[in-house]
Amino acid sequence: MLSVGLLGGTGYTGKKLIQFCHQHPYISSFEVYANSTAEESLWNLFPDLADTVENIKIKSINDISLEHDVYFVTLPHGHSLKYTPLLIDNGKTVIDLGGDYRLDFEELYRQWYNLEHTSVYLLNSKVYGLADFLPAEKYKDTQLIANPGCYPTAVLLALLPFAENFSENILSVSTVAYSGTSGAGKAPRQDLMISEMSGNVKAYSVNKHRHEPEILQMLYSHKFCAPFSFTAHLLPVAAGIYATTSIHLRESIDVEDVLSVYKKAYDAKPFVRLRKAPPELKWVIDTNFCDIFIAVEEKKVIVISAIDNLVKGAAGQAIQNMNILYGWDETTGLKVKEYCHAIS
Ligand SMILES: NC(=O)c1ccc[n+]([C@@H]2O[C@H](COP(=O)([O-])OP(=O)(O)OC[C@H]3O[C@@H](n4cnc5c(N)ncnc54)[C@H](OP(=O)(O)O)[C@@H]3O)[C@@H](O)[C@H]2O)c1
Repeated sequence: MLSVGLLGGTGYTGKKLIQFCHQHPYISSFEVYANSTAEESLWNLFPDLADTVENIKIKSINDISLEHDVYFVTLPHGHSLKYTPLLIDNGKTVIDLGGDYRLDFEELYRQWYNLEHTSVYLLNSKVYGLADFLPAEKYKDTQLIANPGCYPTAVLLALLPFAENFSENILSVSTVAYSGTSGAGKAPRQDLMISEMSGNVKAYSVNKHRHEPEILQMLYSHKFCAPFSFTAHLLPVAAGIYATTSIHLRESIDVEDVLSVYKKAYDAKPFVRLRKAPPELKWVIDTNFCDIFIAVEEKKVIVISAIDNLVKGAAGQAIQNMNILYGWDETTGLKVKEYCHAIS
């Protein structure tokens, strides 16, 4: 049984982690650490959790206990650098949902996050925890899991099987992806107000999105070497990531060859569902599923993926990563039933 510390557990992803930790059979207790909400009671902050989760008092992040076994870090980027090295030095396991340890090189971190990395030595020893793709043996002996970003999770699960198997045939890849507004966290922002976003869609961080180098880093380490573009958009919904990836080929490809590669990659994966029709966001909201649809036509392959950014793109995948790390069934505490896993 594990004791868990949730650093930044009062944010959007942190609240999901509270709910997962509460229902996880191998977590005996958890504490929530935060900043402006320290000293508040959990039920006061999240009235919907009353009578379902114990009404613990939120602790100040300045008073972190080193008594926990596993720490989930859901802090704004930059802040994990203050806590993760201390926790690792004390023999703890850290699953960081932010971007501070995802990129392999400090130069990339400086370029994309505009910060100096102060624990570069951890970048090599971390595992980039793309849970539905990484073989379990890669987790062996690691203390630090960098949980992938929400867009990278949706895009990489859609593209990696193809990239690994047909890289020489790829001319170029272009991904157009959409996110709900919870992707930006809970801090109020005028451009995310309902009066701005209702009935609206807009692209943002064009050619400058931090998730692009994260996606490319993983693609490059899986044989991919073609031009790639990624454009993120905001959708007027609270949650969800919807990504359409267009792959242009040098030569025509057989649809059965493509489908068999995806089936091989995901047949034994309980949280990836290959669909016969384009998925809808509402099929995956509040679940740890990634739904994928593949359409092949001669020299063109379109792969569409949908996830919940706060679950598969954050807290759900983080719990899945913990399960894999400890050798438990990866669905433990994630409410999946066997009949849900259908290749339809
Ligand atoms: N939202 C998503 O879809 C998503 C998906 C994948 C990964 N992520 C990443 O996960 C992390 C958390 O995202 P989120 O959306 O949950 O953020 P959020 O809703 O803004 O929550 C941030 C949390 O960090 C705490 N915090 C803020 N400033 C702090 C400070 N100076 N010192 C200590 N604690 C501080 C907040 O505490 P108070 O309540 O006390 O202010 C809160 O608990 C981010 O790095 C984000 O990039 C987010």
